[in-house]
Amino acid sequence: MTEQTSTKTPQSSNDKFPAFHITGGKGWINDPNGLVYYNGEYHVFFQYHPYGTTWGPMHWGHVVSTDLTNWKRLPIALTPGGEGDKDGCFSGSAICAFGKLFIMYTGFEENGGGEKVRQVQCLAESDDGVNFKKHGVVIGSDDLPEGFMPCDFRDPYVFCHEGKFYCLVAAKKKEGRGRVLLYRSADLFKWEFLSDTLGFDSDGIMFECPDFIEELGLLTVCDQLQPSGKNDCLNVHSARYFLGKMDFETGKFTIKKQGILDYGFDYYAPQSFAESSKNTIMGWLNMWDRNVPSSKYGFAGMLTAAREIRIENGDIFQTPVLKTKQVLHTLVDCKISDRAIIGVIVIEADALESCEIKLREDESHLTSIKLVDGYWVFDRFKSGEIITGAEKDELSLSGIRKMKKSSYEKTTITLILDKYSVEFFEGGKVMSSTIYPPENADKVEVCVKAKKCAYTRYDIAE
Ligand code: FRU
Repeated sequence: MTEQTSTKTPQSSNDKFPAFHITGGKGWINDPNGLVYYNGEYHVFFQYHPYGTTWGPMHWGHVVSTDLTNWKRLPIALTPGGEGDKDGCFSGSAICAFGKLFIMYTGFEENGGGEKVRQVQCLAESDDGVNFKKHGVVIGSDDLPEGFMPCDFRDPYVFCHEGKFYCLVAAKKKEGRGRVLLYRSADLFKWEFLSDTLGFDSDGIMFECPDFIEELGLLTVCDQLQPSGKNDCLNVHSARYFLGKMDFETGKFTIKKQGILDYGFDYYAPQSFAESSKNTIMGWLNMWDRNVPSSKYGFAGMLTAAREIRIENGDIFQTPVLKTKQVLHTLVDCKISDRAIIGVIVIEADALESCEIKLREDESHLTSIKLVDGYWVFDRFKSGEIITGAEKDELSLSGIRKMKKSSYEKTTITLILDKYSVEFFEGGKVMSSTIYPPENADKVEVCVKAKKCAYTRYDIAE
């Protein structure tokens, strides 16, 4: 696997790969893990199966960046085979403590499957941010409260509050629903159970990948296999957010507002950067149960662009973080035609009445986003190679996702385009989806009716 130690950006190693979204090079990736700003660089680890384009024994892949845009690949950080993680190093998080970088992750052992599976929380440390020494299990099956299953206990999110360490871990009750448990520690090695922090069940069969940004009062967690349409979401697995307040004495989180983080087809397992001054998150730009057409090029899965989160008037706003350079700026009178596969497009409109954005178009392909009855309607039905999934409702089967338009007088739309993805931002909300059009489908057309409208296109900057 020469890619592992390549100093090239992950994106440039193969022209079939996304231009700037993080992949694992060859192989399969899912969740972003251990996001942290350490020694002057943003570190992104991710669930990685280097030896195939489907999920397999999980390693932690690793890339770094100084600008959250151009990434350099580093060697695999965690390989299964240690105490508690014989069959996989599952998702987890990072924290800087005692002058070092620590990782908490889930060790996975199959033991014949079903209820014999063991998932435990392990610790590893690094002096240089590249090589990790494993310390083995620090939160084991015996640390689960009564009534929880040791086979579904995973994705530790570690953070610090007033000199103590806390760790959120997703767990499953014997009745078959998820909860988020909170643990506390003075040294990262010895942990005590503090609380069942949300105190209610997942809508689906399990919670996964909790995350917490204390400053924003933002707790996020994924809900696995939820009923279709629940929480404003047609995806069967979704990334939910809860805005509120953590009481560190009782370990209980009180909710003021909740919703989903992304309205697109392909978004899961978001995580925030530890130790960064920005409130920045990244997610997996894919979804469980999808076929992944890029597998024929040797890779499956990528991460979203970084997003900065802010809370205004009790609501959550996401904006992309990317280093770009402007290549085109023009006023739009009714319609503009352009060509683009990779880059960022910003459309700013005053008093917008109607809008239709056509992307990746040729004679027989089209990906579109249209304003219909106050909703942005994303349509990938004719985008290219067919993408299937576990969603069987009519809209999903027709390649449709919807997101409510903001009510602002001025509308600002940001589109992040890469070879196989569209991330659409408006009014602080976002819709992310994969698409697999042919390489030559590059036409862009924007039709608007507004008092005034400007179109700006940016390239990704090195
Ligand atoms: C979420 C998830 C995590 C688990 C990991 C395994 O996508 O299922 O709960 O740790 O993926 O790869």
